[in-house]
Amino acid sequence: TKVCQIGLFGLGTVGTGTARILLDQAELLARRAGSRLELARVCDRHPDDLRGLPLDPGRVTADVRDLLDDPAIRVFVELIGGIEPARSVVLQAIAAGKHVVTANKALLAEHGSEIFAAAAEAGVAVGFEASVGGGIPVIKTLKEGLVANRIETVAGIMNGTANYVLTRMTDDGLAFDEALAEAQRLGYAEADPTFDVDGIDTAHKLAILAALAFATPVGPADIATEGISRLTPLDITFAAEFGYRIKLLAIARHRPEGLELRVHPTMIPADHLLARVEGAANAFYLVGDAVGQVLLHGPGAGQMPTGSAVVADIVDIARGIAAGVPPCGGPFEALAPVPLRPME
Ligand code: HSE
Repeated sequence: TKVCQIGLFGLGTVGTGTARILLDQAELLARRAGSRLELARVCDRHPDDLRGLPLDPGRVTADVRDLLDDPAIRVFVELIGGIEPARSVVLQAIAAGKHVVTANKALLAEHGSEIFAAAAEAGVAVGFEASVGGGIPVIKTLKEGLVANRIETVAGIMNGTANYVLTRMTDDGLAFDEALAEAQRLGYAEADPTFDVDGIDTAHKLAILAALAFATPVGPADIATEGISRLTPLDITFAAEFGYRIKLLAIARHRPEGLELRVHPTMIPADHLLARVEGAANAFYLVGDAVGQVLLHGPGAGQMPTGSAVVADIVDIARGIAAGVPPCGGPFEALAPVPLRPME
């Protein structure tokens, strides 16, 4: 049987979920991928902490070079988050001819053009399903399911932590800090949770989706962004009295005058579908010219859902390798770039 060797960089929340699925579902995944997905090497800062996984300690290292320099590793999975060293290491993996799978939205939002250009040059794929929407396949929906459409709108609730905080403040009267601490405990929050509550993580995700949907480079600096940290329980109570729920929304719209891009807390009528997205869930509202309106809803953060999305990309790439078709292409194939609308 064919084997596809995988190098996993980062055994944190998502790395552990990914390893868990690869190990527990090895047989099923081998059938679906057309080759055995072997977790050949794992790199983490704490190589002695195997997170309860049945890993061979001899395969775990603290030096990422052990993965980069191993020619047998075909798929390099970056799950350390943050810009550096993730950016340099991903570029090195690409230069070494490895396909890359990443959940790193900050990296792709800030340096996506550079990374996808390097991948195209090297003829390798970059899978990034897990960078947006946790377990919800929103990237595949845009790239594959809706490929025949001109996308008019991409909007939704894109940060599980912020939505969890708002839900707990609204439903249980929890204080902001308490709700945030709980989201951190559950493994939803970023290493720096201000990214979640200040809308930065949402803006990263909107940048990735907008670049994909509108075939134009979009960076966080193009997005007018406001978070939820200044909301008070009183705001939430008042909104509820008038029949509204407050949600942190991301909106990208293709307008005649250009792309409109914004992230901010929004009052939504309580009976609207988006108002009912609760806890760490995310929801994506997509409008295409042929399909009309599409709504995706599901777990937007967390260990196993995000691991599910990482493994989906690994399987895609392994299938491509097994079929002898190098999977290729990032999101920025320039079709007809849409001009950005000036920010108000
Ligand atoms: N911190 C992110 C969130 C994780 O809460 O949505 C998923 O990208």
